[in-house]
Amino acid sequence: MTQTLTIRRPDDWHLHLRDGDMLKTVAHYTARQFARAIVMPNLTPPVSTVEAANAYRQRILDALPQGTDFTPLMVCYLTDSIDPAEIERGYTSGAFAACKLYPAHATTNSAHGVTDIRKMTGVLETMQRIGMPLLIHGEVTDRHVDIFDREAVFIETILTPLVADYPDLKIVLEHITTSEAVDFVNAAGPNIAATITPQHIIINRNAIFDGGIRPHAYCLPVAKREQHRLAVRAAAVSGSPKFFLGTDSAPHAIGRKETACGCAGIFNAPYALESYAQVFEDEGVLDRLEGFASLHGPRFYGLPLNEGMVTLERVDTPVPDSLGEGALALVPFHAGETLRWRLAEKA
Ligand code: NCD
Ligand code: ZN
Repeated sequence: MTQTLTIRRPDDWHLHLRDGDMLKTVAHYTARQFARAIVMPNLTPPVSTVEAANAYRQRILDALPQGTDFTPLMVCYLTDSIDPAEIERGYTSGAFAACKLYPAHATTNSAHGVTDIRKMTGVLETMQRIGMPLLIHGEVTDRHVDIFDREAVFIETILTPLVADYPDLKIVLEHITTSEAVDFVNAAGPNIAATITPQHIIINRNAIFDGGIRPHAYCLPVAKREQHRLAVRAAAVSGSPKFFLGTDSAPHAIGRKETACGCAGIFNAPYALESYAQVFEDEGVLDRLEGFASLHGPRFYGLPLNEGMVTLERVDTPVPDSLGEGALALVPFHAGETLRWRLAEKA
């Protein structure tokens, strides 16, 4: 049995780092595992200008111990009123790596999101022309649409026409949860890819109601039926360059999860790589983990591969019930379980 696995240093292509004290609490977990991360811009107010992105990048770097080798890749949050010239300036200067489309009110801090993507012609034409990726939270927000159908309905009613109108636009359909999303991405051109979280290949929707309501298994898009988990899992381990690692680690303090109206988000950053490794091993394709975690993402973004390597060791790794203290205490994904892999400390 394989006892160690050495792969090129991975990146996280979808991450929430928050701000202030929470940022200081969580950033090191990601920097320990990943060389770069696409940092979601859903702060209040959202990160929608070059100036805001540069300031946020600096706060992230300041939140990490001196000498940490970690590169935050910043994202511009699209709003109805955003200026295409600001987006182009941000992308060409390296301030923005991508733009993020949150349909208004789809999830945490998305009140400023886009109300009608069809109004965004100037932005989309600019992005298509300069090759800038559009990262999409692919759910409709219509309250009449069943929450378990919102991704599939988005693909049919919004994404399919969008791709027809902008056939060369680079799109990442984020945190996919359904067989419809897998089929869509597989059938699309090489300019369309998807990120996959650990939770959506490990739990199905039963986990949210397992003997009682389980707020720490609740995220958006919400976990779906078993058949969808299996389809997304098969895509993740398939070796296709269209699918790559994006944790969607989304920390919320325990009190904001365990309450009458708990926030959506699973905090998986501390053991993300171990969690994915277990899935790839269970599927008998540990040799494909490197592609998913370290190669497909940079190739899609047109960025260099990371230089360094990391090693996973086969060691039983108990996951604590909680991490951090007081108002900043968090429950990690896999709390109370024992994982089979551990990321070795750097020599
Ligand atoms: C994210 C958050 O908390 O910011 N929550 C989540 O469940 N994934 C928002 C998001 O990415 O949808
Ligand atoms: Zn997210």
